[in-house]
Amino acid sequence: MKGPSDSLTTERLTVRRFTLDDLEMLVDLNSDPEVTRYTGGVKDRAASEKMLRERILDYYDKYPGLGCWVTIERATGETVGMHLLNHIHGEPDIQTGYILFKRFWGRGYATEMCVEVLRYGFVTLGLPQIVAITDLPNTPSQHVLLKSGLRRKGERKLAHPHYAASEAFAWFEVDAADWLAERARGA
Ligand SMILES: CC(C)(COP(=O)(O)OP(=O)(O)OC[C@H]1O[C@@H](n2cnc3c(N)ncnc32)[C@H](O)[C@@H]1OP(=O)(O)O)[C@@H](O)C(=O)NCCC(=O)NCCS
Repeated sequence: MKGPSDSLTTERLTVRRFTLDDLEMLVDLNSDPEVTRYTGGVKDRAASEKMLRERILDYYDKYPGLGCWVTIERATGETVGMHLLNHIHGEPDIQTGYILFKRFWGRGYATEMCVEVLRYGFVTLGLPQIVAITDLPNTPSQHVLLKSGLRRKGERKLAHPHYAASEAFAWFEVDAADWLAERARGA
């Protein structure tokens, strides 16, 4: 099957799969209180390693084509952060998302790759719908989702223990047909 790194390249960015060698980068990303403010808080090394092994690397084998990818700035080769297309914990829904190192905020990078992740999900994988969740106060992320073509559909509570710290999430979704039609209209 065609993998995400074949499809997911934009004017300024590309993605690649994580490997075990990315542990230091993930520890770095997960140790910034501002970056992790709405992603469950700062994680120590052990938690980052668990995330890398279980949520990221094992997931590639279970769900080919889906997963979390390292986002790279093409001009410099620098790691911008990560984008993802994977299951919400404990749910059948496929979500998109992103976590960027702070120095790369404010350049349009989150949105630029999010749009390509959606295109990949709908066109290459043929997914019928893609959703997203954010903490209620995470307006920067909500802005990215709206710009990328998702629509706000109220709030959801999620039962999985991974989300135990949050009462409810802002819920976003878009169906393939609607997103593709809007893109064709030049949205
Ligand atoms: C959420 C997050 C990814 C948003 O990043 P971001 O850089 O603010 O998002 P964008 O890619 O939309 O870029 C934002 C701004 O870059 C600016 N920008 C600069 N150059 C640009 C360009 N060439 N093209 C587009 N926008 C550009 C724009 O002003 C844009 O803001 P605007 O749409 O209000 O005009 C970032 O805050 C983050 O990593 N947060 C921590 C992790 C997190 O919360 N993840 C989400 C969990 S649900």
